Amino acid sequence: MDDLPLLQASPHRLEEDILALARFTQPDLPYTRLAFSPEDRQARQWVVEQMRSLGLAVRIDPAGNILGRREGQDPRLPVLMTGSHIDTVRAGGRFDGIVGVVGALEVVRLFNEAGIVTYHPLEVVVFTCEEPTAYGFSPFGSRAMAGQLDPAQVLRAVFPDGRRLADLLKDIGGDADHLAEARLDPARTLCHLELHIEQGAVMERQGLQVGVVTAIAAPCRGVARFVGRADHAGATPMSERADALCAAAELVLAVERIARSYPDMVGTVGFLQTHPNMVNVIPGRTELHLEVRSTSPEDLVAARQALQREAYAIARRRGVEGDFAWLYCDEPVVIPSSVRHHLEEACQQVGVRWAPIVSRASHDSARLASVIPVGMLFVPSHRGLSHCPEEWTDFEQIATGVSVLALAILRLDRYGL
Ligand code: GLV
Ligand code: MN
Ligand code: MN
Repeated sequence: MDDLPLLQASPHRLEEDILALARFTQPDLPYTRLAFSPEDRQARQWVVEQMRSLGLAVRIDPAGNILGRREGQDPRLPVLMTGSHIDTVRAGGRFDGIVGVVGALEVVRLFNEAGIVTYHPLEVVVFTCEEPTAYGFSPFGSRAMAGQLDPAQVLRAVFPDGRRLADLLKDIGGDADHLAEARLDPARTLCHLELHIEQGAVMERQGLQVGVVTAIAAPCRGVARFVGRADHAGATPMSERADALCAAAELVLAVERIARSYPDMVGTVGFLQTHPNMVNVIPGRTELHLEVRSTSPEDLVAARQALQREAYAIARRRGVEGDFAWLYCDEPVVIPSSVRHHLEEACQQVGVRWAPIVSRASHDSARLASVIPVGMLFVPSHRGLSHCPEEWTDFEQIATGVSVLALAILRLDRYGL
């Protein structure tokens, strides 16, 4: 046992912060704080104020990521980073991402109260736009930090309503012309740790307090379009139709079937638009956005090929035009054992019930993993619900996760990787 202090996070302060952020939502659709929306900008401002009140020096990088820096004893040492995101999906929850941000702020508070000055500088990070948006680059901020964004593509990106991504980025303090400068220098960053809710029900079922993530599954997202022929729903015989929605329906079921054929895969069509979307008109055009996820790179490649083949086969069989493109396919991530070791030791020393766990959801950490070592801690999600307003984790459970995070940071600070 070493002499590192066991700091107790405050459930009450975490509750206050989480509820404060929950107020920044579209009022008619809680909890909706889409990246770059007015609510997101207000919430970002709130975080900046919190950071400043804790004594952090705040900067916004060209990708709009917010970084709050607490100096260490030796400015030449690489930075320890911790944080997550505060944007939400539409009608999402109050905990996804947010727990990692308010948890990081609480760690700073605990260090301030205990008079701890780490050897390494510590940076609290809020990543820009982790959740999907209409232009399809998400996660945006962590991808930029990993050098995985094509600046030219970002400069060209325009929302369906005509707004340029570069302008939205400028509004939050970013700069699309200098995106490459958001890339992390691996020599200057020791590690990133992210506390997050599990978003599944494994931990609750097993009575675990903390999960130490071993691997992060990767999503592959694609878009399929079918163009048939809009026509009268009464006067057109069944044999003479080119119904684009029927083609889409077949593809929806193919995603389900293909995902089910691999042990560790999930597949979803979460977006479907049909045109003209009238009850008495045969759908002439459809667009689907789909994803498959797995921790196995080989299975993902095979599923991608099968899905693409299936989309074109459906189009041919039904006499409609089909078009399919992958938007992006990420790589599954294995968490380095050197980082896991410190997380596991921290769990042991705090004395929590913990176990290794696979992350089925994706995270900013997964994107950073290609440039720096990352680690993730999970706290339980009530009934496993997430990306919905019912998402819930007790504040005591979050505090336990934050206490482990604080010790893990102190361990990394003292012992390195
Ligand atoms: C992130 O929220 C994901 O889609 O996994
Ligand atoms: Mn999410
Ligand atoms: Mn998240």
